[in-house]
Amino acid sequence: MIFVTGGAGFIGSNFVLDWLTQSDEKVVNLDKLTYAGNLKNLLSVAKDPRHIFIQGDIADTQLIDQILTQYQPRAIINLAAESHVDRSIHGPEDFIQTNILGTFRLLESVRAYWNNLSIATKQNFRFLHVSTDEVYGSLASNEPAFTESHRYQPNSPYSASKASSDHLVRAFYHTYGLPVLTTNCSNNYGPFQFPEKLIPLVIVNALAQKPLPIYGDGLQIRDWLFVLDHCSAIRRILEAGTPGETYNIGGWNEKPNIEIVKTICTILEEIYPKVVFHNLITYVKDRPGHDRRYAINAIKIEKELSWKPAETFETGIRKTIHWYLNNQEWIADIQTGTYREWIKKNYNESR
Ligand code: NAD
Ligand code: TYD
Repeated sequence: MIFVTGGAGFIGSNFVLDWLTQSDEKVVNLDKLTYAGNLKNLLSVAKDPRHIFIQGDIADTQLIDQILTQYQPRAIINLAAESHVDRSIHGPEDFIQTNILGTFRLLESVRAYWNNLSIATKQNFRFLHVSTDEVYGSLASNEPAFTESHRYQPNSPYSASKASSDHLVRAFYHTYGLPVLTTNCSNNYGPFQFPEKLIPLVIVNALAQKPLPIYGDGLQIRDWLFVLDHCSAIRRILEAGTPGETYNIGGWNEKPNIEIVKTICTILEEIYPKVVFHNLITYVKDRPGHDRRYAINAIKIEKELSWKPAETFETGIRKTIHWYLNNQEWIADIQTGTYREWIKKNYNESR
């Protein structure tokens, strides 16, 4: 049994669905179901006995203790977080609460649980903490990509809260010996991503013929990875990573934002030849403190764990666009908030 937190969010739901296609090992999935958590992402496994969903908070010590005692997981994959930079600028409090205090409380519960395991089970146990490249700060155009030894220099409340949680995870290894693994991944895209992040926002707005907002000059660079490649990297690190180590995960896909948006417009114009999407591109005021460039050096995971991404940006973006085109009901539910009503009515059944 593995214990996933945040498994109703974008990466978490992809991870759970992917896990259950690759393995029969059960998953207990704890998610608070914030605005970003959507049980509809998990519809295909709602009745699958290998998937146990529990609504709750990683900061709720009593609940976490009870889950650990009842399900005795051999590993925890911590994906629960507040994840959107713009929201962290407007309201940082939730980020401190979940990303820092929540991770701390989860670590404390896990430490107590782990201490009571038999020696063999204790050795094989893993706490895998999913983090981001944003903790490393911003790169100038001529600087080399982030390696695992790059200094932490977070610039947004989001990245500062993630950096804090990474430090706590590290401290629990060095102080208590808890067998932790930390992953720092670049920007993800793919199915089930909430349309507040660049790629789904642009696809959803384009389909509704709404403006496609480009912050500042649009020349900021991100390094993009298809979400299922992130999931396969997490599985590989869980299986073969060395406790106490951190692993950068990336797809060698550095691209300026404007290029991403133009690529989406071009693909949509191939699909709908009578519609012009490029005209919707609209330059807007820049994000405060906007990091200029992120880039991941993914050599360590490739050399030590033989992991490489399966998708190129060109294949991944087409899959993503087609997923959103084929799941317009999912988009409509998010936009109207219907998914929240649905969760209220149905989540007891899928518990
Ligand atoms: P998301 O916002 O889509 O999902 C987060 C999930 O966590 C949601 O389902 C939410 O309900 C749940 N959650 C929030 N607070 C919680 C709490 N206190 N207790 C339990 N559940 C809670 O985020 P995502 O994009 O899937 O990111 C998942 C993780 O991956 C985060 O830690 C993020 O920092 C990291 N990450 C994301 C990216 C990316 O591009 N999206 C890249 C690298 C790393
Ligand atoms: P985002 O998807 O929010 O991820 P992050 O800030 O974690 O990298 O944004 C990706 C990039 O796209 C980032 O440089 C900000 C930019 N951006 C826009 O230009 N317009 C938008 O509407 C959004 C949401 C983001």
